[in-house]
Amino acid sequence: MQRRAKITSVHSYVPEYILTNEELSTMVDTNDEWIMSRTGIKERRILKGNLGMSYMGTQAVNGLLEKSNTNPEDIELLICATVTGDYNFPATGNIISDNCGIKNAFSYDINAACSGFMYALDTAASMIQSGRYKKIIVVGGDKMSSIINYKDRTTCIIFGDGCGAVLLEPSDDETGIIDSILRSDGAGCKHLYQPAGGSVLPASIETVTTGKHNVYQEGQYVFKFAVTNMANVGAEIMEKNNLTADDVDWLVPHQANKRIIDATRERMGLDESKVTVNIHKYGNTTNGTLPICLHEWESKFKKGDDIILAAFGGGFTWGAIYLKWSY
Ligand code: UT7
Repeated sequence: MQRRAKITSVHSYVPEYILTNEELSTMVDTNDEWIMSRTGIKERRILKGNLGMSYMGTQAVNGLLEKSNTNPEDIELLICATVTGDYNFPATGNIISDNCGIKNAFSYDINAACSGFMYALDTAASMIQSGRYKKIIVVGGDKMSSIINYKDRTTCIIFGDGCGAVLLEPSDDETGIIDSILRSDGAGCKHLYQPAGGSVLPASIETVTTGKHNVYQEGQYVFKFAVTNMANVGAEIMEKNNLTADDVDWLVPHQANKRIIDATRERMGLDESKVTVNIHKYGNTTNGTLPICLHEWESKFKKGDDIILAAFGGGFTWGAIYLKWSY
């Protein structure tokens, strides 16, 4: 049997501060009814103060190490998926590793917008499968509030801050990560991106005063692309692995918009009870949505459950992973 990688533990961290729809409606021209009906979001978490993504990653990884009774010195690799790293460089994964006493490992970041956690999980699974590594941590999270314009009602209602982490180890049974379909299309760049702060438009007084360091999104365009691609890839991975709707125990979808989640679930023919949804509490935490869901539903998952992860994000990037839960 082919050696698989399995998730053996999961943990997450969300900041304490709750930004409600009511509070947002005092900041921009919006209201709870509009936000709930168009997105399904009721509130989101905000990390206050001069704390970055590594702060949330450190909380999630320390919790993961503690609950799995893992010595940080046994970790061989840490991959951090984020678009809001502490700095452009060094990698936030390096900082998290240092904070958590992970000394015998290498670490780096992956940037694939909202699909980053899935890309990182697939990369880590392949490294376990190769036989070269036995303990890898994958972190996914974002401090989206650091790149959101709280005067832009079309983006500030959607995003929130949060982070999660999983431990990957070799599987000695049939459970673990079985298959993935991952895609990207760079033509999507201009529809969802952070225009300034990179090498095209480095920070300047002009970029700051015109707000170009914040997320730019053409909501309707992205919505149509997301609905089609996330739903299609969910159905495609079922077909590829001969799974019927009855076979699938859980869909763990990226939490970008409740309407996109519903369309994906319907296309896959799944009952609502099989879908992890917490978008009402956290909004879109970008790289955090999938590991936060995995942590929140951990107690409901059973060993052998067939689970499909699906995501869509800037890039454009999208894809799905099929796994059998391991504990
Ligand atoms: O995870 C990364 C990928 N990102 C996504 O998946 C996001 C995809 N896009 C979306 O989720 C949705 O497009 C949004 C939630 C961003 C917007 O919802 P929508 O149903 O597409 O609204 P819209 O942009 O078509 O706007 C409809 C109306 C407009 O008014 P008019 O032109 O019809 O008079 C907007 O100005 O709603 C207005 N509007 C708002 N009204 C109250 C836009 N934002 C707001 C708001 N509150 N916050």
